Order: sequence, then structure tokens, then C-alpha cells
Amino acid sequence: MKTLEIRLSQKKYSISIEKGILGKIGEEIGKIYQNKKIAIITDSNVEELYGKKLIDSLSKNNFKTKTIVIEPGEKSKSLETAKCIYEGLLDFEITRSDMVLAFGGGVVGDIGGFVASTLLRGIQFIQIPTSLLAQIDSSVGGKVAVNLPQGKNLVGSFYHPEAVFIDPELLRTLDKRFLYDGLAEVIKYGCIKDRELFDRLMEIEGQEELFDSMEEIILNCCSIKRDVVERDERDRGERLLLNFGHTLGHAIEKYFEYNKYTHGEAVAIGMYNFTKKSEEMGITEKGATRLIKEIILKYNLPYKMPDIDRDSIIKAIRLDKKNESDNLSIVLLREIGDSFIKKINKDHIDLYLV
Ligand code: GLY
Repeated sequence: MKTLEIRLSQKKYSISIEKGILGKIGEEIGKIYQNKKIAIITDSNVEELYGKKLIDSLSKNNFKTKTIVIEPGEKSKSLETAKCIYEGLLDFEITRSDMVLAFGGGVVGDIGGFVASTLLRGIQFIQIPTSLLAQIDSSVGGKVAVNLPQGKNLVGSFYHPEAVFIDPELLRTLDKRFLYDGLAEVIKYGCIKDRELFDRLMEIEGQEELFDSMEEIILNCCSIKRDVVERDERDRGERLLLNFGHTLGHAIEKYFEYNKYTHGEAVAIGMYNFTKKSEEMGITEKGATRLIKEIILKYNLPYKMPDIDRDSIIKAIRLDKKNESDNLSIVLLREIGDSFIKKINKDHIDLYLV
């Protein structure tokens, strides 16, 4: 098992990564949690595939469980679903000394963490992320949230789990489009911080080699994110680097009302197009755009800017929740593996678009 410790000012917890860890999860949870009640929040896809395996292992270790199943998909990340989960947890007579277990992808992790952070002013929770995106990004760093009709993740907080358990074997049943979705974020880590990871991704040949390398890749990404989050838990400085490709990516996702592109696909378009422009401006080392295009294509992700009028993109970027009053922070590369944050006036975003 590979383990990473996260040390924050108020909290310390570990991320454990191991193929097959789900089969012995009851034993692992027993090492960090002494009470017996666990409320599992999951979605119907994950529950069908892995619900029994999880419950069997928890029951073998004498945990008393209740499973709350939500519909898969972003639509479930709402205050209405949160209310249903609160009611399910209260029916189970959950108390502050019990445990919530978020078992699923990004939606389940975000809403499960949000509910845990707010019900009874905070119940401890554990994350078992099941998608690549959740395993390398959303389950690490404590961001929990639900969406509002006005936008994604508008209600939320920073609330860290007691532990994160990652089983790379679960990715074998992940729809390929969503595997590549997560790989876009892996590529992002390579671009912003780790040239070796980028080169390793370039070398991998075929699905089997990818799965064989998965434990290492996840460890690599979680360790980059851990370091960044430890230095900037509240997203005020260095953590913004994790937004490489996201300024444009979020605008594209929003423009198409989250229907056309997955998050990773939109981020891939953002990474390529921002780098293309910054290379033309002489900010990024020559050749970086070509390499990004190559890696994006290798992992079946899009790079071409969709046919959207420029004003709509600019409008969506100006409304991004990470903006400050007149400014927004964009992330640019000096070269692959080395990035920086540039604060620009909102009116100048046009200069950085292809
Ligand atoms: N997903 C970016 C962050 O956690 O800051």
C-alpha cells in the first residue's frame, strides 16, 4: 500500500492507495474509526458494481451501515438532493460521533462531503473515490460543494475527510470517456509541475500499460496536490495553479450547459489554446503547444476550440467565481512542468485567447 500524509494547520489525514483495497476496507477503516455506525452515500452505478463488496467488508468488521443512493450525474449535486441525504442520515439516527462514507466519483464526494460538513455542524467522513478524476483531484484538498442553478459549486466549504482510500482497480469498469476525462487532469499535473510525469504519459503504450502504471500515476498526482494544498489550503495563491486550462475550460463547459464536453475534455481544450497563445506571445517555451496537442490526442481528448463566438467566451470567463473584483488569475506555462500565475485585469482576457 502507498500512503501519503496530508498535514494541514487544523487537520492531519492520510491517503492510502492500493489495488484491491476495497476488499479489505472494513479492516482499514477499523484502524482509524472505533465506533460502529457508517452511513454510505453512493450513486446507483457504483452501488450496483461495488456496493456488495463494500458492505460485505464493512459487515465482516461489525460495522452497522445504511446506504443512501443518489442518481448518477451532475444534476444530483443540488440542495434538493442534499436535503434527501440529510433526511436519510437523520432516519439512521446519525450522531456527530458516527461516520459518513462518500463512495463514488466527484459528484458523490462533493455532495457527501458537503452534507457531512453541514449536518449537525459537522460529521466526520471518509472518501472512497471511484473515478480517476475523483481519485487524483476532487477527493484531495477538502473542497466540498453543491451547485445552484446559477452555477457550479457555488455553495460549499473546505472540509477535510478523516481518510481517503483509493483502489485503482475500480477504474477498470469506468467508461473509457471518463477515464480520459481524468487523464486530462493527470496531463495538467504534468504540465504545471512535473515534466517527468508528462514524459511518462507520453511513453505509455496501450491500456494494459496504463492500468499497470495507474497506482504510480495516482500517487504522483495526489502527492503534487498534497504539496500544493499544504502550502495554500484556501485557494488564495499557489493552489490556483491547479486551474491550468480551467479558465477557458469552465467557460466552454458552461457555454454548452455541461452537456457537450466532460470537465476533462473542456480543460484539455483550455490547456492547448491558452498555451498556443502564450507561446505565440513568447511567454511559453517554443514547442510546448505541439507537445500538449500530441499528448491530448494520445488520450482521446479534444484540443480544437469549438465554434463559440468570442463575446460569449469572454462573458463566461468574466463571471468565473475565482475572479476578484477587477482581476482574474490565469495560469500559464514557462515550459512543460513549470507554471506560474498571472493576475490580469478582466478587460485584458481577450489578449490571451486564440
Ligand atoms: N480542483 C482544484 C482544487 O482542488 O483546487
